[in-house]
Amino acid sequence: MDERNDFDFEITLDGEQVPVRRGETVYEVSERHRKEIPTLCYDPRLESFGACRLCIVEVEGARNPVASCTTRAEPGMRITTRSARLDMHRRVLMEMVASENRDLDVDPLSGYASGEMATLLDRYEARTGRFSGRRSGTSRPDDDNPFILRDYDNCISCYRCVRVCAEQEGDYAISIMNRGFETQITTEFGGLLKDSACTFCGQCIQTCPTGALGDLKALANANVAGETEKTRTVCTYCGVGCSVDVMTRDDKIVGVLPAMDGPANKGALCVKGQFAFDFVSHPDRLSQPLVRGEDGELHATDWDTALDRAATGFKTTAETHGRHSIYGIASGRAPHEAAYMMQRFIRGGFGTNQIDNCSRA
Ligand code: SF4
Ligand code: SF4
Ligand code: FES
Repeated sequence: MDERNDFDFEITLDGEQVPVRRGETVYEVSERHRKEIPTLCYDPRLESFGACRLCIVEVEGARNPVASCTTRAEPGMRITTRSARLDMHRRVLMEMVASENRDLDVDPLSGYASGEMATLLDRYEARTGRFSGRRSGTSRPDDDNPFILRDYDNCISCYRCVRVCAEQEGDYAISIMNRGFETQITTEFGGLLKDSACTFCGQCIQTCPTGALGDLKALANANVAGETEKTRTVCTYCGVGCSVDVMTRDDKIVGVLPAMDGPANKGALCVKGQFAFDFVSHPDRLSQPLVRGEDGELHATDWDTALDRAATGFKTTAETHGRHSIYGIASGRAPHEAAYMMQRFIRGGFGTNQIDNCSRA
């Protein structure tokens, strides 16, 4: 089937006729055709904002380049995504953006998008320092929360953090105050995050393209030696099944990144999935079964002994108090097969329908 049947009209993109769906932006069409248009304030999960102007393209008949992320494609448009003029504009924009920041290179552990600005600076050879001078944003080293670095000396006012908090998290914990060099990302009344509506979901960290917002739990592992490896897996907490990329160095978990293409979460996580990964290597974590002895204390034992003890306990309880004295709660983390076995265990094994799942909590 001709895939062009799914489209409404055509435009000319860098000299080639390409199909377009009504409502698509020039950026979306260009991305589908693998055009490398730089962006800084764009996050595909958010409403386009048009702040950084880095995504400019030339439209035949228009006097000035336009921002492709906020320009809808119209029938017959003729677009150029790459030219010496566009490169010059983008380079100057990048030089101006860079002039705002104290640090241009941050630790990649800061967050998912934290290297975006530095990558573009290199691509456009824009580390010239031409516009160095005044800076906007005042950092909040006094924000003593354990999760989020608020280093606004490295902020470029792209507002991705503010928009992700509002549009994705529905939280509106942070906002924009003042304009120009006085621009500041702030909470209500300029307070600390822990006194705001913040749920510490970490989405603002992960969308920040400069590392102005950083993952303090991951950055605490910056000194762990070794290459960072990423492993795609599913969060170990509730039953939603958010996809994550667990970062490890030499078998130690050093941080968690949300998977932007995760079918259940599309880059979103909660405070537990984002930050509570250190239980994996916690010294108090159980590594072998325990049974309570005559002395009332828990003692390490082998699995056969522990399972025999549990079976005896279940049997005695059911015989003494009846089958409805047993109540099963399956873990929301369990896979389907384990959940199925759990309900068979309770229903078939004890003859009661008292079985539930913690995902319903
Ligand atoms: S951690 Fe989540 S709730 Fe808190 S400011 Fe960032 S996006 Fe908003
Ligand atoms: S803190 Fe980061 S995401 Fe927020 S406006 Fe500044 S640079 Fe953009
Ligand atoms: S990415 Fe389009 S204006 Fe910033």
